Amino acid sequence: MEPVNSLVIVGAQWGDEGKGKVIDYLSSKADLVARFQGGDNAGHTVVYGANIFKLHHVPSGILNPNTLCLLGNGMVINPLVLVRELDELEKRGIDTSNLRISAKAHLILSYHQALDEANELMLADKKIGTTGRGIGPAYADKMLRRGIRASALANPELFGERLAEALPLQNRILKDIFGHPGFDLKEMIDLYRPALERLGPLVIDTASLLAKQMAEGKKVLFEGAQGALLDIDHGTYPYVTSSSTVAAAAASGTGLGPASVNKVLGVIKAYTTRVGEGPFPTEDLSEAGDQLRERGSEFGTTTGRPRRCGWFDAVIARYAARINGLTGLAVTKLDVLSGMEVINLAVSYRCRGQEIDYFPEGFDDLSQCEPLYKSFPGWDEDLSRVRAYEELPNAAKDFLKALEDSVGVRIDLVSVGPDRSQTIICKDSQIEIWSNTRQE
Ligand code: IMP
Repeated sequence: MEPVNSLVIVGAQWGDEGKGKVIDYLSSKADLVARFQGGDNAGHTVVYGANIFKLHHVPSGILNPNTLCLLGNGMVINPLVLVRELDELEKRGIDTSNLRISAKAHLILSYHQALDEANELMLADKKIGTTGRGIGPAYADKMLRRGIRASALANPELFGERLAEALPLQNRILKDIFGHPGFDLKEMIDLYRPALERLGPLVIDTASLLAKQMAEGKKVLFEGAQGALLDIDHGTYPYVTSSSTVAAAAASGTGLGPASVNKVLGVIKAYTTRVGEGPFPTEDLSEAGDQLRERGSEFGTTTGRPRRCGWFDAVIARYAARINGLTGLAVTKLDVLSGMEVINLAVSYRCRGQEIDYFPEGFDDLSQCEPLYKSFPGWDEDLSRVRAYEELPNAAKDFLKALEDSVGVRIDLVSVGPDRSQTIICKDSQIEIWSNTRQE
């Protein structure tokens, strides 16, 4: 089988699929891990023995001392939050000197966060349910060609100039539309000075570094944040995030051509969750949904909000497989299903009286969809110690087989607990090849 030298990892549902754990596991074999979109709205939890790390900007690869970590040009970065994240990691003995920031990434500044919160308040019951991190306003400024790029972190004079240009308009919007007091230029410069000192030296041309490393045959992992259904174009718009979360964005968000990436792993939970507002056909508001939330500790890493929970939805999974070009699946949190009497899997929807097996184009249609389930008997065995596919109970294997068949993409990896070690790698999968071909 051909070697796997570049692998994109994306969420195949509404985010929170457990990408952090999978990326951490795979990054031990990577020379480089690059993020390509999103910002600190992401919350990747990595558990290593007794240590729990909650990462927001920094790629999960930072926990591996030999892995170079890049924040790509497609990202939006909050310098104050990034400094706090790095300090926290350093305090816990993690060397963060392998992090580099693309000069072309955009900055999330105080006024973006204020605008995010003010927008949500104004939308009232039509709110998106954002993480409140300023993601939408920062991307909006980028597209309006008035954002401030990370290159300014390395040049305090330029940062001051850009801020002086940006602030009058931002303050006018905040004051006149939202009744917010606005921000003072000098106070902002003082607030950001330490972050500029700390982060400035990390700002480089990450795209040429990446291209050079790939030309040398180095192994690269592209770390997606959020998930397919939160994609700005293909997700459940307007209840989405403000970036391209699909695999194709790995190329543009790091400065490569599309052919540079050869494999795409979709991370998918054995059930479904969603935070924030918007349609969610398999949401289960009964006891089963509560059980999934409690057993799976389904509370947001970034906001602490309880996640909405429901059964696995093969319709959205097939859609995610198509828009990402998935070449394999990593099924996470299978252990959470232990002890459930019956396990449901949605194979199709009933939409306005018709059975459909595809994801409807329109948002209005999706809110009208009712899932049609196939039910499976559950199992009682604790899966947390299982390390080989064959050792899984037959009922769990039957469920996984049905999941794989209904999505039409093979399962490469199954996660049975939050720890690195609680991982099953399927034989002859692209992940087994990835794991066995470390470039020394
Ligand atoms: P924003 O990205 O903060 O603008 O939020 C937009 C939508 O994306 C909201 O529904 C959020 O809950 C959701 N969202 C953003 N980041 C994540 C994530 O990392 N996991 C799950 N949902 C997310």
